[in-house]
Amino acid sequence: MKKIGLITSGGDCPGLNAALRGVVQAVHKKNPEVEFIGIEEGYLGLIEGHWHKMNPEEFSPILNTGGTILGTSRQPFKEMELMNEKYKATRLDMMLKNFKKGNFDALVILGGNGSQKSANLLHQHGVPVVSLPKTIDNDLYGSDLTFGFDTGVARATEMMDAIATTAASHNRIFIVEIMGHKVGWLALYAGIAGNADMILLPEMPYDTKYIIQKIKAIQKTKQRGILLAMAEGAFSSEEMKLSKKERKALEATSSASERLSSILSNEISQEIRTVVPGHFQRGGNPTPMDRILASRLGAFAGEMLLKGDFGNMSALKDGEIISIPLSEIAGKLKTVPLDSDIIQEGKLLGISFGSKENDKIVK
Ligand code: F6P
Repeated sequence: MKKIGLITSGGDCPGLNAALRGVVQAVHKKNPEVEFIGIEEGYLGLIEGHWHKMNPEEFSPILNTGGTILGTSRQPFKEMELMNEKYKATRLDMMLKNFKKGNFDALVILGGNGSQKSANLLHQHGVPVVSLPKTIDNDLYGSDLTFGFDTGVARATEMMDAIATTAASHNRIFIVEIMGHKVGWLALYAGIAGNADMILLPEMPYDTKYIIQKIKAIQKTKQRGILLAMAEGAFSSEEMKLSKKERKALEATSSASERLSSILSNEISQEIRTVVPGHFQRGGNPTPMDRILASRLGAFAGEMLLKGDFGNMSALKDGEIISIPLSEIAGKLKTVPLDSDIIQEGKLLGISFGSKENDKIVK
């Protein structure tokens, strides 16, 4: 092993730098001869041939720095094998060509769902790849946790805490729209940590009539302010009757919280506000737990590289870091299981999940 290319791909998240540092330090400790090449702007750098040599010392101070020092971009998996006018080749062809041109012995790819699919594609075409699971969404199949998630939960909770005080002062209803793409992990965790009255997840379509009843019931108590933690990908059971295409069109014109707020405001006189913390949840420095997880996954990935354990992802399973085949995880989404203990505990804590069906205590 002489030359390793490093790629951070897709949406950034806190912990990417810590993971890069983990990989580099582990490899450098065992084999100081290995050269590290930073491939710029995610897969785009490999497609277009932009990279630069990096010294292992450069990685030492970045443990606690958010974002990625390599830069990143979104390069959709579905476009990887399509002919591209600009390149007169597919993006995959360009990457294979540049992998050879750069004399790389292996690539380390830090990415979420789409990026893991592309990593698997590269591996299927003979590229020695080791990957790492990153995303604030925690939706990556195969790893119990992804780095970035803990920080995302902390940021979203900070937002919920801040909103709670002003909601109480003005006795308003706040719908806080939380990132997470198609899954509800972030909204679920931040909702519990942020003392939400209601948590709405993509995995559990909500019933607006039921939500109105619940709000009216809270209004009869002495509670001031009502907090809803709503996943950006949540839909009502009515919206779930639409086709996938129609739902996509709906998302393009209105956010989840706007749609719910406009329905509720017709039925409820209490003032309703929506808050979208957006990229605040993805920015800033990683939490200690994310620094540790990213460092462990990185160090383990470094060992995988030196052992030639390619085509695999470094993952967390039952508290241990393991190597898991990309072919087993690529293209699979890790959603919140409806029968999970945390959902049940949320219900016991008095949190509503937005419909009679969702709120049934089943165990
Ligand atoms: O996957 C991470 C994530 O932050 C999602 O939660 C969100 O839906 C998406 O990325 C936003 O992507 P972008 O930064 O490209 O707008």
